[in-house]
Amino acid sequence: MKQFLLGIVFTLVVGALVVAGVAKFGMIPLNADAKPASWEWLAAGLARHGYVEAHAPKMENPVPVNDENLITGMQVYTVACAECHGSLDRKPSAFGAGLYPPAPNLIDHPVDDDPESETFFVTKHGIRHTGMPAWTAQLSDEQMWKVTAFLKRIPTLPPAVKQRWKDSTGVDAPNGQEKKGWD
Ligand code: HEC
Repeated sequence: MKQFLLGIVFTLVVGALVVAGVAKFGMIPLNADAKPASWEWLAAGLARHGYVEAHAPKMENPVPVNDENLITGMQVYTVACAECHGSLDRKPSAFGAGLYPPAPNLIDHPVDDDPESETFFVTKHGIRHTGMPAWTAQLSDEQMWKVTAFLKRIPTLPPAVKQRWKDSTGVDAPNGQEKKGWD
């Protein structure tokens, strides 16, 4: 039994040394100008979904869904999020595309299927080892719930909010009929 345990410890130590050696000799690619491999997407996506699902607060959005709050959410998005996730004028973000992994375009690929508690949680705490910052020091919870409400409803915004979108950008808001999913 003792030998068996020593064998396990030995294997773990050798494994750790191999990983350290591989890293030390520059064999782990760390450049951001590459496309994440499909296994990497899968593994990172699995870990993110598992973590967010387990830790997001189990609650509804406490902010009432009305034109005023959705417009505030839209303004928060423009100031804090559009630089990476794409602006309301529907231009993709070159900055966001240069990150690894790239920032998803939340206008053309909205998170309308996700529970709002999860979008709020990701916004508040960020995603480690990606460009997604934690906003807890810069936005109040109320602002984060408002931007969450806005993101959830991008394909189905009420007329007054769509009008504000058009007035401020000259471009129509999504009408909910456009193709969804990833290109
Ligand atoms: C500096 C760039 C950057 C900014 C600014 C930024 N994000 Fe992100 N965000 C990212 C990246 C990169 C990812 C993808 C992370 C991943 O793939 O795991 C991401 C992912 C997300 C996701 C998960 C999307 C999904 O498909 O599940 C949400 C929700 C999100 N961001 C919301 C926001 C909100 C809200 C703001 C503004 C308050 C914001 N982000 C600002 C870079 C950014």
